[in-house]
Amino acid sequence: MATTIRAAAPADLGRVVQIEQAAFGATAFPYSVFRRHLDLSGKLFAVAEDTPGVVGFLLAARSVSPEVVWFLDLAVERSFRNRRIGRGLLSHAVTQCRSLGVSRIRGTVKPDNIPSQRVLHALGFAEIAYDPAYFGTGYPRRIVELDLR
Ligand SMILES: CC(C)(COP(=O)(O)OP(=O)(O)OC[C@H]1O[C@@H](n2cnc3c(N)ncnc32)[C@H](O)[C@@H]1OP(=O)(O)O)[C@@H](O)C(=O)NCCC(=O)NCCS
Repeated sequence: MATTIRAAAPADLGRVVQIEQAAFGATAFPYSVFRRHLDLSGKLFAVAEDTPGVVGFLLAARSVSPEVVWFLDLAVERSFRNRRIGRGLLSHAVTQCRSLGVSRIRGTVKPDNIPSQRVLHALGFAEIAYDPAYFGTGYPRRIVELDLR
């Protein structure tokens, strides 16, 4: 089966949380955050589905500036990585943002997270800032943006 990408649904949340916990451990978002985003993010919360079911997801949300969307979370099950599923999820989010009339997509990435940066770079994201303590002391992040205008 080819991987398909579609909007997340309540039945997907169990798998989404498993993938999230495997990817991020103690800093993983809990079930409640994903449940809220089914209502808050709509089509900006997408899952990738393959033969065993959900194998990855991307979560994004509109900000107080309606023209700016932030991508908040992206993860692919380890055994399905490096098959361009991450890129597919981000590409899907970019398409959704264009259809919503969004001007800019922003996100953050750990400076040493090479796979994530490759996915972002492939879609045209560029670094616009660097915060050495974005998530507190010792948790630096590159802030990246894709300008859709
Ligand atoms: C980041 C993540 C979502 C990417 O998913 P994916 O489906 O593997 O992504 P893709 O297959 O589309 O692309 C991965 C890219 O990283 C590259 N890559 C993978 N491991 C690498 C490594 N150790 N060194 C250099 N490049 C590497 C791949 O070659 C590929 O680049 P390419 O398409 O230019 O060849 C996945 O690695 C993941 O879930 N990581 C843990 C959670 C995480 O870090 N999320 C991102 C938070 S911003």
